[in-house]
Amino acid sequence: MPLAETGTLVAEAAAERRAVAAFNIITLEHAEAVVAGAESAASPVILQISENAVKYRYGRLRPLARAAVEAAREAAVPVALHLDHVKSGNLLRQAADAGFSSVMYDASHLPYEENLAATRAAAEWAHTNGLWVEAELGEVGGKNGAAPLDAHAPGARTDPDEARAFVEASGVDALAVAIGSSHAMTSRTASLDHELLGRLDGALGVPLVLHGSSGVPDGELSAAVSGGIAKVNIGTALNIAMTAAIREYLAAQPDAVDSRKYLSVGRRAMAETVTELIGVLRGAGEPVAP
Ligand code: G3H
Ligand code: ZN
Repeated sequence: MPLAETGTLVAEAAAERRAVAAFNIITLEHAEAVVAGAESAASPVILQISENAVKYRYGRLRPLARAAVEAAREAAVPVALHLDHVKSGNLLRQAADAGFSSVMYDASHLPYEENLAATRAAAEWAHTNGLWVEAELGEVGGKNGAAPLDAHAPGARTDPDEARAFVEASGVDALAVAIGSSHAMTSRTASLDHELLGRLDGALGVPLVLHGSSGVPDGELSAAVSGGIAKVNIGTALNIAMTAAIREYLAAQPDAVDSRKYLSVGRRAMAETVTELIGVLRGAGEPVAP
């Protein structure tokens, strides 16, 4: 099937008060697992590659991006490609002809005025080059090895008035909001601020994105989708599933040397996680009691 476009998948989801799942990929096995999991769920999906994943791949975007493009084209469900948490202008510009239909430009570490200026410039460039743009306001904690902020840390919240002004002035197509999730959590214990999400949903005219979703329990994810989140970013959950499955396999087979044996076990575990999480998002719609 031809590559899908992130903007279309998110708009369709938002119109029906659903969310599209966006999974971070690091290896070809991640990409294959996300596609397989989405096919099992008969659901569209977004494959996303972060700037950190590009750094891991010796700073090269194209080898993994090309693999992801081909995995997407051969999928039985619509699959879009998104470049995630981009801070580098050089990397941003590589997105235009590498198969991506969208980027998340992340200047959220900068003071507001600098974030706005940098995001506006990035959005102008991206729109000129046909890319849908997501930005972030109110940093979601835990990136780049920094200690994850407490889910209720006062600093990790997006102000609705500031967010509305930011979206209007920057021209972005979607906004990642800080409502209590935190990047790279290995336990699903985050508690979201649904009252704040309701105010953000009412204040902004663009789809809302949840980051750090691996640490968010099923019920909270469902409630977030019901509350207006239209794109759900998930990364760590795949690595937890993959690593646990490989660890278990190698413990039981200490003499194993063929990497296909344990990588296929890890890939299957990731695909199952993808199917389960898409099921959680699909099950949303009915408000969940807090
Ligand atoms: O942009 C990617 C996500 O926010 C993933 O966060 O690894 O905590 O699920 P996570
Ligand atoms: Zn993120």
